[in-house]
Amino acid sequence: MSERRESLSDWDGIADWWIDAVRDDPTQSSDTLGVLEDLVGGTGGRTIDLGCGEGQVMRRLGGEIVGTDLSTELLHHAAQVGPVVRACLPDLSWVRPHSFDRAVACGVIDMLEDHVALFRSVAEAVRPGGHLVAVMNHPAATAPHSEPLADPEGQVLWKWGSYLTSGSWTEWAGAHPIRIFHRSLATLLSDAASSGWSLERLIERGPSADAIARFPDLHGQENIPSLIGLRWSRTN
Ligand SMILES: C[S@@+](CC[C@H](N)C(=O)[O-])C[C@H]1O[C@@H](n2cnc3c(N)ncnc32)[C@H](O)[C@@H]1O
Repeated sequence: MSERRESLSDWDGIADWWIDAVRDDPTQSSDTLGVLEDLVGGTGGRTIDLGCGEGQVMRRLGGEIVGTDLSTELLHHAAQVGPVVRACLPDLSWVRPHSFDRAVACGVIDMLEDHVALFRSVAEAVRPGGHLVAVMNHPAATAPHSEPLADPEGQVLWKWGSYLTSGSWTEWAGAHPIRIFHRSLATLLSDAASSGWSLERLIERGPSADAIARFPDLHGQENIPSLIGLRWSRTN
């Protein structure tokens, strides 16, 4: 996996946009971190924050935590919270094997082209019995061409797009591209299981009342899953 391929997303270019989103957008901050907090109970210890961005997860979890990210701009902020390493996921060859008790990945797995390589490299970095906690866009929402539709009575339905086929699409933050990689829930769970991860808990959420208040277009989508959170333990 080359850095050039992954940098099809320009996170340095959108660092300021992301920092504003973390501060102002409840779908990026409180919804995501709410799911994370529901999942981390019962896990702990030395933690690696994969794709730590500006450090909101490091701030929220505290404790012994190391952040890693590709974006120099965002790492500059995260470094004020704790130690950080600039690296390109899914490569974790710089991590001593089994040296972490827990890995967290918020909003990151669907940014990576090779999720299987990530599951494998995290399984190498985390000790047997340790955990991987991930929160990301729900696969129903990452499918290319998926979108809300209103039926004649005004009820909001979900168009699945090409849900069953792995693929990618580009979201634009102004002039800056963000590549989103889609895989179905079955693909995600099967690939995690075959990479040494045993699923302990799965959470699905629609947009919160705060998110709907901030983005009225989300009205009617309360029961359409937009976020997924997963907690896996590392099998021996
Ligand atoms: C949606 S943001 C989430 C940031 C942070 N986890 C949070 O919840 O605030 C995605 C992050 O993944 C990082 N990222 C994307 N691709 C990456 C890669 N290949 N290696 C390392 N970090 C990457 C971006 O730089 C960005 O900080």
